[in-house]
Amino acid sequence: MCGIIGIIGTRDVAGHIVEGLKRLEYRGYDSAGVATLVDGRIERRRAEGKLVNLETRLREQPLPGVIGIGHTRWATHGVPNETNAHPHATDRVAVVHNGIIENYSALRTYLKQKGVSFTSDTDTETIAHLIALHYKDNLEAAVRAALQDVQGTYGIVAVCAKEPGTLVAARNGSPLIIGVGRDEYVIASDAAAILEHTSQVIYMEDNEIARITADGFRTTTLDAVPVTKDVEEVEWTLDQIELGGHEYFMEKEIFEQPKVLETCLRGRLDLRDHCIHLGGIVDCARELVRAQRVVLTGCGTAWHAALVGEYLLEDLARIPAETDYASEFRYRNPIIDAGTVVIVVSQSGETSDTLAALQEAKQRGAMVLGVVNVVGSSIARETDHGIYLHVGPETGVASTKAFTGQVTVLTLLTLYLARRRHMSQRSMNNYVTALGRIPGQIDAILEQNASVRTIAERYMDQNNWLYLGRGYNYPVALEGALKLKEISYIHAEGLPAAEMKHGPIALIHEGMPVVFIATKGTQYGKIISNVEEVRSRGGHVIAVATEGDRDIAELAEHVIYVPDTLEPLQPLLTTIPLQLLAFHAAVARGCNVDKPRNLAKSVTVE
Ligand code: AGP
Repeated sequence: MCGIIGIIGTRDVAGHIVEGLKRLEYRGYDSAGVATLVDGRIERRRAEGKLVNLETRLREQPLPGVIGIGHTRWATHGVPNETNAHPHATDRVAVVHNGIIENYSALRTYLKQKGVSFTSDTDTETIAHLIALHYKDNLEAAVRAALQDVQGTYGIVAVCAKEPGTLVAARNGSPLIIGVGRDEYVIASDAAAILEHTSQVIYMEDNEIARITADGFRTTTLDAVPVTKDVEEVEWTLDQIELGGHEYFMEKEIFEQPKVLETCLRGRLDLRDHCIHLGGIVDCARELVRAQRVVLTGCGTAWHAALVGEYLLEDLARIPAETDYASEFRYRNPIIDAGTVVIVVSQSGETSDTLAALQEAKQRGAMVLGVVNVVGSSIARETDHGIYLHVGPETGVASTKAFTGQVTVLTLLTLYLARRRHMSQRSMNNYVTALGRIPGQIDAILEQNASVRTIAERYMDQNNWLYLGRGYNYPVALEGALKLKEISYIHAEGLPAAEMKHGPIALIHEGMPVVFIATKGTQYGKIISNVEEVRSRGGHVIAVATEGDRDIAELAEHVIYVPDTLEPLQPLLTTIPLQLLAFHAAVARGCNVDKPRNLAKSVTVE
């Protein structure tokens, strides 16, 4: 889950490579490096830790050169330090890599027998030595020959001291995009690092190699078959990937939700005719409406959104549905029969377990629908049909607007199918109207930011929190707990509230923060009993409740009110206070909210 970049042009590239790495840093940030070609030699600068350390190194020892490669790392093989930082190089070849070389140990043994000595503990260094071993007078040919022996996933960019005008890139399982600029080419793991140069891009597919010079590029398969590529336009702007006056991307993305959910609903939610338009599924609508079973799959936050989707599809569209962790689905020999639709949910569209689950489902004959945010991502391109979130780029590692975007899209899909299966127009009118109110209602919740911060700061030293919900709010409890865990490093567990009595209630102690999603609904009475159970054992109840609910204020230490809406739509509102709680607890604990330890935005390795 690293970020890689390569630039070839007519001006010194080291500074531009570092600017590109800054936009890729959310993919991995434990060490970084740059290499350029200077007077027929490979020159490298590398540093452990955050990118600023590399910038300091480059200020002390500037790096000229109009061709270069760069890398920001999320360590898989070898501890994060300068020696293991990329680019890895021999005297002739330098390489940056995103992915995992599964047979690197065998390759190391083979290369050692060839007299190669290694300086790092990484899998990537084997690629550099393999290319050097195969190099005669053509870098592209050497890369092609080297990759015949490589098993695993990779996105690589290579340079060679003997070919000062050539960049060679190859992809298998990790994303790579070529930016077509004026007098330069930029190749990177995602469009964020390319946008300041150009919005004209080419998406590389698996098993493709690209040879890029200042005058142009050509793409072939690993077996040297030429491949014609289309230049596409990236719809996102540079502004969208800036902080926009916020201190953290997570904060910006939390407060962007009212606006971006309006964009997500635009052209899809028809408030005049009370219906739903989903252009991305028109061709498969009949099959979807007749689906015998829906399997939703994803990882992390996307899995939580998928779980809300399961509840929606069964409850409103009356389609049997189940949710599977992608990492389990891909290996558990799932039953996929005629009429099974698999929905893969992913913000980045690059998560390797979700991509593999998609491929497994397709192989078994399922129709696969993608719910994805990143346009042109691998999952978007490999699914038969799809619905984009249109919530703009999400940079904060902790997913926020993508979660509400995923839930909004799954709600639109459910209503679209429900109306075509059995839902009355009258009921549809209610849901469409209520969904149209959601962006404004989120705005109202965000106005409580300061009071939520006070609650978070009150309990920031507590190292164990519980999140409890019922029905549609059970996945929200899971999501709230994940948010707190991943950015504040507080241990938190999300549970169906009724599960407490079957064990977890033993955890409750005096002053322990317990977050209840206790909004009005079919199970309100039940959740109030659960609140009582926790209160009577000294737990401090932080309740997310429906505006106007005075009773719960008698029971809870703290109440965060959300506007009333239809029960199936509640996750879109009840999630917001939990995002703010986690954000403020992390800030109060001095955590790096946008780059939490041990994490990366897109998990492109297994
Ligand atoms: C969520 O905050 C995390 N960043 C993580 O759980 C994430 O949701 C998961 O890795 C899935 O990513 P995706 O949506 O890009 O596939």
